[in-house]
Amino acid sequence: MEGITYPEYRRVHARMFPGAARYYTPFIAPDPSGCFRGAPLRGVLPENNAGVILVPQLLVNAAGPFLIAAQVLSDLGYTEVDLNVGCPSGTVTSKHKGAGMLRDPDALDHCLEEIFSRCPLAVSVKTRLGFDSTEEFSAVLAVYRKYPLSRLTVHARDRAGMYRSRPDLEAFASALKDSPFPVIYNGDLFTPGDIQAISLRFPCLYGAMLGRGAVCDPALFRRAQGGPVLRKEELNTFLETLTEEYLASGLAPAYTAARMKELWYYMRCLFPDAKRAVKAVFRARSLPDYRAAVDALFASGSFDAEAGFQQA
Ligand SMILES: Cc1cc2nc3c(=O)[nH]c(=O)nc-3n(C[C@H](O)[C@H](O)[C@H](O)COP(=O)(O)O)c2cc1C
Repeated sequence: MEGITYPEYRRVHARMFPGAARYYTPFIAPDPSGCFRGAPLRGVLPENNAGVILVPQLLVNAAGPFLIAAQVLSDLGYTEVDLNVGCPSGTVTSKHKGAGMLRDPDALDHCLEEIFSRCPLAVSVKTRLGFDSTEEFSAVLAVYRKYPLSRLTVHARDRAGMYRSRPDLEAFASALKDSPFPVIYNGDLFTPGDIQAISLRFPCLYGAMLGRGAVCDPALFRRAQGGPVLRKEELNTFLETLTEEYLASGLAPAYTAARMKELWYYMRCLFPDAKRAVKAVFRARSLPDYRAAVDALFASGSFDAEAGFQQA
């Protein structure tokens, strides 16, 4: 998740809460010549991802930059790359990237044809069900079925639904009928019960991708596999370890505090009766203020490991 799952996050999460089969990078948007550097490049360097099974994800509107970036990833040792056909942001879709690719299935088809004829890596796709409507999915699915995708992850909403509309399980179900590739479900899986319900409803599902639910509760993968709920001390250790990893990576203290605060948008749900203490965390401007506010929150007595993520 862009702005959330930096390499430090993935490393600490994989170490403390093993159980995810793989992690995906936030999307990498190469320039038109296929180049990417800076933070996106650092994010895929193998030395920054020790102990993490990682699939890099690319956001493009043409095969050319995808293929050049894929070669760079291949040279780094990756064997698979994911294409983002889901990002709903207006600045992305207006460039025909992310969910913007769903508006023109013929152009998507041409792009995939070129990618699959020349890509040195296995290619998976993360898609939404459509741009304006989930009814568009049958045409989009027909395109995907022409290619040997290593996996298709379906965020079961159209772009118009952003992150709020109710996932369309009927439309999603069509992806499971006769698809030649493994299909993964994504969307609003916030509790082990949600994950179990989806697995029961769709027995031939290959897997589930967790997003906001796992940021809210880093132990969600463990709980989904029958393990114990998150303990408060464990969460505290996770957050402090992550803070230290960011500082050790050279990130300035104020930026480290800002990154940690991004997580609290999701994790605040674990402290349902401590709204004032949570607000103090968001108000903190420096790392010492942030740490003091988190200490006060943990001392507040409000912690519900099973609360699950809820939209504000
Ligand atoms: C802040 C944020 C950043 C995201 N960044 C990405 C991304 O870079 N690539 C991607 O495929 N999906 C991204 N997503 C979408 C999630 O992967 C997921 O598809 C979506 O949140 C629905 O799943 P959930 O209900 O389990 O969160 C992002 C979502 C959020 C909220």
